[in-house]
Amino acid sequence: MCGIYGFIGNGKVEDLINGLKKLEYRGYDSAGIAFSRNGSLIVEKKTGKVDTLCSAINDTLEEKINAGIAHTRWATHGMPNDINAHPQMDCEKKIAVVHNGIIENFAALREKLISEGHKFISQTDTEVIAHLIEKYFKGDLLEAVRLATLDLDGTYAIGVIHADVKDEIIFARRKSPLVITKNEYGSYCASDVTPLISLSRDVVFLEDSQIARLKKGAFEIFDLSGKQVEKRFCHIDWDEKSAEKGGYKHFMLKEIHEEPRVISDALMGRVKGEKIFLKEMEDWKDHIKNLRKINIIACGTSYHAGLIFKYFFESLRPFDVEVEVSSEFRYRNVLIDDRMLNVAISQSGETADTLESIRLVKSLGGRVLALSNVVGSTLTREADKTLYINAGPEISVASTKAYIGQMTVLYLLALYIDSVMGKEHPEKVKALSRLPELVDQFILTQEKTIKDVADRYVGYSNFMYIGRGMNYPSVLEGALKLKEISYTNAVGYQAGELKHGPIALLDEKFPVMAVAVDDDLKGKMLSNILETKARNAHVVAVTSASDHDVSSIVNDVIRVPDVENYLYPFFVGISFQLFAYNVANNRNLNIDMPRNLAKSVTVE
Ligand code: F6R
Repeated sequence: MCGIYGFIGNGKVEDLINGLKKLEYRGYDSAGIAFSRNGSLIVEKKTGKVDTLCSAINDTLEEKINAGIAHTRWATHGMPNDINAHPQMDCEKKIAVVHNGIIENFAALREKLISEGHKFISQTDTEVIAHLIEKYFKGDLLEAVRLATLDLDGTYAIGVIHADVKDEIIFARRKSPLVITKNEYGSYCASDVTPLISLSRDVVFLEDSQIARLKKGAFEIFDLSGKQVEKRFCHIDWDEKSAEKGGYKHFMLKEIHEEPRVISDALMGRVKGEKIFLKEMEDWKDHIKNLRKINIIACGTSYHAGLIFKYFFESLRPFDVEVEVSSEFRYRNVLIDDRMLNVAISQSGETADTLESIRLVKSLGGRVLALSNVVGSTLTREADKTLYINAGPEISVASTKAYIGQMTVLYLLALYIDSVMGKEHPEKVKALSRLPELVDQFILTQEKTIKDVADRYVGYSNFMYIGRGMNYPSVLEGALKLKEISYTNAVGYQAGELKHGPIALLDEKFPVMAVAVDDDLKGKMLSNILETKARNAHVVAVTSASDHDVSSIVNDVIRVPDVENYLYPFFVGISFQLFAYNVANNRNLNIDMPRNLAKSVTVE
């Protein structure tokens, strides 16, 4: 996600740039800084790399400054360009704000501020924060930031500097991280410890709904009522490389741990009570009422997310949903008309086959809805509409958190389409809202068990993943994950297909990963598991927490919570991600950059 860095004390402009360079690994599309000079704020920002910004301000790098804030932006609201880059400012250009996160009610706040006379120049949600602080500022910057944060719904980590307030800078957070430290030269704040550990190894992690006032060499922390709270220092002994990964050994593991947050960010602003709001889709309501078919086009992991959509949507109503791998779709003689919705799913938004597929759809007069993680990517520019998954940059080549984010948005889309077609699903909407917490608990409690299971199976060279119904796509994804990062042969099948061929492979050297959760097809899965056991295969079952019958006949068990049937794919997906990760880690492989693979497949 975006990166924030700021300091107050003895420093130079170049220190802001160096802080940003240490946050580059987080992924970003533009960068900017703000500092004060003779009572005014100087703001410099550029689309592209920190080096581009650095070249543009080459002459000022050595300038001595006493405070500054800096930002690397990963676009969520508004295209990546110089205007939307942070810092964002107020009308008088006295206040500069950098922000990570998503302000859910920014449109309403913006409208209100405009009616009060404020002038906006960017498309960002962040700009409302600068104007709110301007509105509340009466000489006390901390108080103005506190009042502004009370108006914000959503998530934020913010850094604020004021031209007239020379001896302090303010930071505040809700859900997006900030870390603070100090030394004899100054006080410093950043999105993570990476830019801080060369300054001091004793840091304070700001907690949710806290505000920090940094002065030279000292800082205080307040809660949202304005009461000062105690600081709790932690000693960090990570080196810089492990600090980038938040202490995790690999980005893949870090990204799996981000999944609860990814789900809540994907839901943010789109679920209110028992209803789904997809404002991007509002003007397609008539089209949706008239739909006769949904076409999903995607590759790899995104294709598997698409398959889950098909099963979920069909569970809501009988409907024609086709899911096709882009590299096949683009060469087919497809029938496209205006009663179809074509959904192209691509984390990167740059996958060549998916782009060619949507060009084909558009050339035949079809409508394209993109689902992507990258604002401004080619797919989002060429599609008619885009739903962003807002997962933040995914650095590990193997997709994990983006897959979970795609599923979340696809569930929202399915429920939205069905409600436009006339059926509401209040229980399902509420269940989705509970998902981040359930997933968090699941990872916390089951990670070690899954690692232990993976440790026992690390010696095998072949795996067969089987599942049925909604969990069939999960076995395809589980097998793909194991293949790509551990270079182990893994195949995924509909369990009912076993006896039509694949069962011939099975013996004691060919373990089976079976999904047998407590759903309508559990009895069928039990029979399939018995068939594999009869061939001496070792079986690892992913089953529900309260299960007895599956767990009593298999060799190893991964338990997922007892949830509504349609939520199992989230937990099964994460189980298989952790299983693959631990097999690959056991073999000491280059997990984040598997051989022969690229993050963005921009060639056919
Ligand atoms: C697997 C993986 C790939 C991608 C596929 C499509 O972990 O990451 O299978 O899912 O290359 O990429 P996007 O979604 O960027 O189009």
